[in-house]
Amino acid sequence: MKGIILAGGTGSRLNPLTKVTNKHLLPVYNKPMIYYPLFTLKEAGIDNVLIVSGRGHSGSFLELLGSGAGLGMHLSYEVQEEAGGIAQALGLAEDFADNEKIVVVLGDNIIEDNISEAVDKFSNQSSGARIFLKSVKNPKAYGVANIVDEKLAEIIEKPENPPSDLAVIGCYMYDSRVFEIVKNLSPSHRNELEITDVNNYYLKSGELEYDVLNGFWGDCGESFDSLLESAHLIKDSRLAKMDNHLNLF
Ligand code: DAU
Repeated sequence: MKGIILAGGTGSRLNPLTKVTNKHLLPVYNKPMIYYPLFTLKEAGIDNVLIVSGRGHSGSFLELLGSGAGLGMHLSYEVQEEAGGIAQALGLAEDFADNEKIVVVLGDNIIEDNISEAVDKFSNQSSGARIFLKSVKNPKAYGVANIVDEKLAEIIEKPENPPSDLAVIGCYMYDSRVFEIVKNLSPSHRNELEITDVNNYYLKSGELEYDVLNGFWGDCGESFDSLLESAHLIKDSRLAKMDNHLNLF
């Protein structure tokens, strides 16, 4: 399986921190933000990874991470010319994926859990997609799962009245059909191709599975508070010591 980290977008919610650098290069406790999704993938045995970043500062990713050899990974790079949405950024990975199944992680998501077990389940899933849910205090800020009779019925992007407290976190597993699905999406009211529409497509075809995360999850890009909270959570977790697993320096 191959990995994709999406690190485009404008990072406008963290202005002025993002005025002269890319959001995913900002420090979160003792490492640049992008190290955390890289570690999540590496720990799940995925070391062939494409990083999609926006036009500005894309050279800084190469400067920081190079070929990935220092991390025991193989890294490739792609540029998203304009922030057209998460699904649009994913669409740029079609050649890289080359018909293999993929695991996508948003570059601003911090996942404490080891996702290996879910990745193994997805390897054994004949087709479709797999997502993660996490109980959160402020579901309005995320894609939210509507569970009816213990079954996932729909995902609603940033709902005014959330049907549950279960957020769909920024880590998604897809079969190779995802790129055809992305090509058929229409832009949302915020003029972006939405990953939630991709997930709802699989859901309606009866091919969307999910796991619920136990450890903490942080979307550092959401606000200054979430950036700060993620740093505190990392400080007291195994993620602070991931340097033992990756040769970071
Ligand atoms: O963090 C989880 C949430 O991420 C999900 O619950 C939502 O369903 C999903 O839509 C997304 O919501 P956000 O509004 O927080 O996404 P945001 O625009 O902050 O983008 C998240 C990451 O995706 C960002 O760190 C980089 C990447 N991205 C985003 C856009 C808009 C791109 O690579 N290109 C883009 O054009």
